[in-house]
Formats: sequence, C-alpha cells, structure tokens
Amino acid sequence: MRKEIPQSEIEKQLALCAKMKAEATGARYALVDTYGCQQNEEDSEKLRGYLAAAGYEMTTDEYLADVIIMNTCAVREHAEQRVFGNLGALTHTKKAKPDQLIAVCGCMAKQPEVVDKIKRSFPLVSLVFGPDELWRFPELLQTALSHKKRVFEPGSGDGCVAEGVPHLRTDTVKAWLTVMNGCNNFCTYCIVPYTRDRERSRRPEEILAEAKSLAAAGYKDITLLGQNVNSYGRDLGGETDFASLLRAVCAIDGDFIVRFMTSHPKDATEALFAAMRDCQKCEKHLHLPLQSGSDRILKAMNRHYDSEKYLAQVDKLREYVPDVVLTTDIIVGFPGETEEDFEETLKLIERVRYDAMFTFLYSPRPGTKAAAMEDTATHEEKQERFDRLVETQNRISEEKHRAYVGKTERVLFDGKDKEPGILTSRTLGGRLVRVEAPETMIGSFAEVKITDCNTWALRGELA
Ligand code: SAH
Ligand code: SF4
Ligand code: F3S
Repeated sequence: MRKEIPQSEIEKQLALCAKMKAEATGARYALVDTYGCQQNEEDSEKLRGYLAAAGYEMTTDEYLADVIIMNTCAVREHAEQRVFGNLGALTHTKKAKPDQLIAVCGCMAKQPEVVDKIKRSFPLVSLVFGPDELWRFPELLQTALSHKKRVFEPGSGDGCVAEGVPHLRTDTVKAWLTVMNGCNNFCTYCIVPYTRDRERSRRPEEILAEAKSLAAAGYKDITLLGQNVNSYGRDLGGETDFASLLRAVCAIDGDFIVRFMTSHPKDATEALFAAMRDCQKCEKHLHLPLQSGSDRILKAMNRHYDSEKYLAQVDKLREYVPDVVLTTDIIVGFPGETEEDFEETLKLIERVRYDAMFTFLYSPRPGTKAAAMEDTATHEEKQERFDRLVETQNRISEEKHRAYVGKTERVLFDGKDKEPGILTSRTLGGRLVRVEAPETMIGSFAEVKITDCNTWALRGELA
C-alpha cells in the first residue's frame, strides 16, 4: 500500500524539467487553479514548483497560459460542478490558443466515472492524472505535449510517499506542511479514502527538515496537514505519534506559530492536549469535526464515537487548555436524519459552544456506502435545518466574539483586507482580527486591543 518513490525517480523528473527549460524558446506561462482543501493547495504548490523548474512563469490569465491545470476536489457535488462549468468555459481560450494544454488532476481525476466523462465530453482536456501521480507530473506533461496525444493516468491505487518535489510558495507568511496523506476511516459519506488512498506518514526527519527550512525562510505560520493527523506515525512502526511530532516542530528555533488539521475525534489523545498546552508556539485551537450530534447518525456515518465520548474529549481538552478555540464541521441531511436527530445536533452545539463552524448539506458521493442509503427528508426540510443550524451558530459565534472586546491579543499579521488600509491578522487561537495597520507589518506579530466584532471576525487596534 505504502509506495516510497526512490529519490532517483524524483531526480529524473527534475532533470526532465531542466531539459524542458533549456529547450524552451521564449516565455511560457502556466496557470494552476485549485479547488478543495489545504492538501490540494499544497499539491498545487508542488505543481508550480515543477512548472517553475521547467521554465514556466505563473499567470492568472487563462488567455496567456500555455498550460492550465485544474487541481480538483470531489468532496461534494457542488465542487465537481464548478470544475465542469469552468472547463466548459475554457473552450474559448483553447480556441484562441489551440496549442494550450489543459490538464485535470486532484481528487476528481481519481474517480473512474469522472475520467470517463472527461474522455467522452471534454476533448479539450489532454492530460488527466490522480493525486498519487503528481510526483511524475513532468513526465506526464512532456508526453502530453510532445506526443500530441491525450494522457489518462488516474493512478493504480497504491498510496505513495514522494520526497524532494520542489514547492513554489506564493504566500510569504503562511506555509502548508503535509505530514501524512490518505485516510483509512471510510466515513460512509466521504469520498476522500477513495481518491487519496490509505494513510501513509512522512518520516519525522523529513518533516522536521522541511519545518526548519520554512522557519529559516521566515515563515511565521506553519500548518501541519493530514486528513487525520492523530493517526500520524501508525504506519511507521509506532516509533512516533502526532503529539511527539508537534512537540518536535514547536521546538525548532524561531518566532512562528504551529497549526494543524484535521483531528478525528476518535483519535484525539490526552498526549495531544498536553502538547498543545506545553508548546508555546502551538496554536490554542482545535478543529474537531463532530458531523452530527445524534448517536444513531454517528453510527451510520461510521465515525467510531458517540456524543458522550465527544463531549468527554472536549471537557478533557478544556482542562488542559482552558481558553481553547474550538471549531467543527457539521453535515446536515445525512440519509435517514430525522428532526429528532437534528435536534440532538443543536443540543450538542449549545453544550460545546464552538467558536466557529463549517456547515455542509449532505451530498451523495458515488461509490460511498451512504450513497446507497435511503434518504427520507426532503430538500426543503434539510434546507430549513441547515438555516436553523447556521442561525444558532451565528448567535454563539457572536457571543463568543463579544467576550474578546476590551481584551488585548497577540496576533500575526498575514495579509491585506478588502477594506483599504486594513490588515488581516490571526490570534493564537486562529480568530480573524481586522486592524488598521501599515502593510509593512505583514509577517510580524503585535499586541492588538479588540474593539469590536461581528459573527465572523474581530476588529482591533494596535495596542
Ligand atoms: N479529513 C477531514 C476533512 C474531510 S472533508 C475530517 O475528517 O474532518 C471536510 C468536511 O467535509 C468533512 O468534515 C465533512 O463535514 C464534509 N463532507 C465530507 N463529505 C461530505 C459529503 N459527502 N457531503 C457533505 N459534506 C461532506
Ligand atoms: Fe473523510 Fe472521514 Fe477520512 Fe475525514 S476521516 S477524510 S471525513 S473518511
Ligand atoms: Fe477535496 Fe480531495 Fe481535499 S476530495 S477536500 S481535495 S482530499
């Protein structure tokens, strides 16, 4: 299952990039468009890393681009529809620039029915490759470009671990750092285990080396990524676990914050909570996806915890880190969810009082167990529950934000707000604070007095 790609193979890919660069006549441009989660964002940085090594300059102009790559997400139907819609729109650019190469990769590219659909209905796409083929993207690109034939490589099903693929990071403050890939959990609604294969962890020494180089390069906010970071290391013979990794990353010299996601509630440990408490650099935030507050639904989702176990985790975490910021994901309208089940969810939310929540309407994913389950609620019923959930959470979020007003928080400035003169920043708990400050402060920490808030953000002034 765990397929380690030899370094010599990556070097071959890099040599191919160098050759493409040397043979190029004139400037060439590439556009990488990303859908989906942070893991996909990080994969896009690798695609750009390879493209830059092959001599491409990055652009956001689809008429200028010689190569367009759509790095796709399959987690909900809506994400897929967006990709198909945007692909359709590329007919115009392809007509204006017939040599343009259009590629589709990421999670959609791993699904047989999607690959078939692209083959049949989107002749403008000439390269399709799954997430586990990314390490050999230069070779696939060259084949598609030079042989003028369509290339389809969804992947064999072996999850690979590839080190040494270059990144091109555009952000200068925040960096993603993948610690593991894949998922073993098979939550019955979820496509990820099918598109990303089984869990495999990167070796701690590789992760630490990358974290050190990010810190040395001046990154101030490093996020450790995995679909379920709490099972980190299980495939490495049990010599390490996520709590130890987190401690080791936090022990690296420098002034930066370490964030991580995602934690599956079935695997969150006291050792993790202790590391969160002890490590000064570690964010005081846990994203702990609940999905549903109904034990019956949690069982049907194959989540391996019930509401009691979940609440016990939250209480334990709050013993260790009293002011911890808690966020979650909720799915509304899972097959068979009744009004009573939904009320259990509302009850749990009132009990936990999350700082923020991501809410999703259940979207059936072909090939998953839940897609074959009987769905009884109507779309209107689901939408009505969804609205009630959002309303409940908005009230709680605002109440929690209100409690910050008057306090002073240390924040990291990470970018410009839409409003002129205002910067965005994050607290150690990850809450967004909008502050009037000079652009030169992006990338630095400062004490900020919180003056106002709304549901989504805090407002502050330099203290
Ligand atoms: N590995 C992470 C994230 C998975 S995807 C985790 O386990 O938390 C992010 C979120 O999308 C999930 O937490 C879930 O709430 C939502 N999601 C996944 N599949 C979905 C589906 N079929 N329909 C609606 N929401 C879904
Ligand atoms: Fe999907 Fe569950 Fe794995 Fe998260 S833990 S990626 S929700 S199967
Ligand atoms: Fe989407 Fe794949 Fe991430 S399905 S959420 S891009 S792992």
